[in-house]
Amino acid sequence: MKAAYITQTGPPEVIIYGELPTPKPGPTECLIKVAAVDVNPIDTYVRGGVVPAKINFPFILGRDLAGTVVESGVAVKRFKPGDRVWASNQGFAGRQGTFSEFACVDTSWLHATPPSVRDEDIVAASLVGITANLGLLRDAKLKTGEIIFVNGGSGGVGSCVLQMAKAIGARVVTTAGSDEKVACCHKFGADLALNYKTQDVDAAIKSFAPDGVNVWWETLREPNFERAIPLLAQRGRMIVMAGREAKPAFPVGAFYTKDCSLFGFAMFNSSAGEQRTAAAYINRWMSEGKLKAQIDRVMPLSETAAAHRLQEESTIQKSGALSGKIVLKP
Ligand SMILES: NC(=O)c1ccc[n+]([C@@H]2O[C@H](COP(=O)([O-])OP(=O)(O)OC[C@H]3O[C@@H](n4cnc5c(N)ncnc54)[C@H](OP(=O)(O)O)[C@@H]3O)[C@@H](O)[C@H]2O)c1
Repeated sequence: MKAAYITQTGPPEVIIYGELPTPKPGPTECLIKVAAVDVNPIDTYVRGGVVPAKINFPFILGRDLAGTVVESGVAVKRFKPGDRVWASNQGFAGRQGTFSEFACVDTSWLHATPPSVRDEDIVAASLVGITANLGLLRDAKLKTGEIIFVNGGSGGVGSCVLQMAKAIGARVVTTAGSDEKVACCHKFGADLALNYKTQDVDAAIKSFAPDGVNVWWETLREPNFERAIPLLAQRGRMIVMAGREAKPAFPVGAFYTKDCSLFGFAMFNSSAGEQRTAAAYINRWMSEGKLKAQIDRVMPLSETAAAHRLQEESTIQKSGALSGKIVLKP
C-alpha cells in the first residue's frame, strides 16, 4: 500500500511517500480502507522530533482517519466489512499512524460514521472535535446561557469549540485574524466575532460581558494570564491546551479571590471511553448540522510534506495561511 511515513525525525523533507506492507488486523482490530485523513499540528511536532514520542520506524504519520472496514479481527463484534468508520488517537503510544491506503485500528478507538456525513468532514472534526468536547463538557462544564470567549475561533480547535458552545446554548465571543475569518466565525454562530489585528478585543469583551466571561478557551501557544484573569467572571474557568514551552506570569490574587479554576489537558491522554463519549456528541451534532467541518483545502496524500510545511507556517509561524484543516486523500 502507499503510505506517508518517516524513518527518522526531522524537517518535512524526511517524509517518504512510498510502499509499505498492508497490515493484518489483530483479533480486536479492523482493517480500514482509508478515504480521508487530516493534518494536526502535533503531527508536525512528532515528525520534527520536538516532542517525546514512542515511535517504531518506519513510522506512518497521522492521528485521524475516516474510511470503510474491509476486514474485522476474529473477536470484533461492533463492526463488519462495509461499515463506515472514523478514528483518532492513532500514531501515538506505539500505535502506527493513519496516512496510508489501509490502516489497522483497535475497535476501542473506532466510531461509526453517520450516513449523512462525508468522510472528509468527519475526519476534519475528529481530533479537534474530541479536544473541544473534552474541554467544554468534561473539564469546563459549560452551561446553557453562559458566556465563553474562544481566542482563535477560525482554527481547527477553535471552530469546533465555537460551534459546540453554541450547540450547548452558550453565548460566544471569539477572535480571528482577518475580516473573512471573522465572517466565518459569524457563520458558525458566534454572537460576537472580532478581528484581533484591527479591533480592541478586551474592550469589546468587557462591553459584551460586564461581569466577565464564564469560560476562557485559549488556543494560543502563548497564554496571557495577566490579560485573561481580569476578564474572567466569578467562578470563571480557563482552558489551556497549547504552548509546551510557555512560562507566562500568573496573577494569583486576581485568580483565587474570584474562585476561578484552570484546566490543562492533552486529548491524547484521554481514555478510549472518554473519546467514545466525545465522538457520540460529534456524530450527533454533525448529523444535525450543528457542527460543520472547517476545511481549508483537500490535497492528495502524496503531498503530505507540502501539507506539513503549510501547517507549520500557519500554526507555528502564524502566517494565517490556513483557515481550519488540511484534509488529505490517499
Ligand atoms: N492539548 C490538546 O489536546 C490539543 C489538541 C489539538 C491542538 N492542540 C494545540 O492547540 C493549538 C491550536 O491547534 P489548531 O489545530 O486549532 O491550530 P490552528 O488551526 O492553526 O489554529 C490556530 C488559531 O490561532 C489563531 N491565532 C493566531 N494568532 C492569534 C492571536 N494573536 N490572537 C488570537 N488568535 C490567534 C489563528 O487565527 P487566524 O488564523 O485567524 O489568525 C487560528 O484560529 C496548537 O498549538 C496545537 O498543537 C492541542
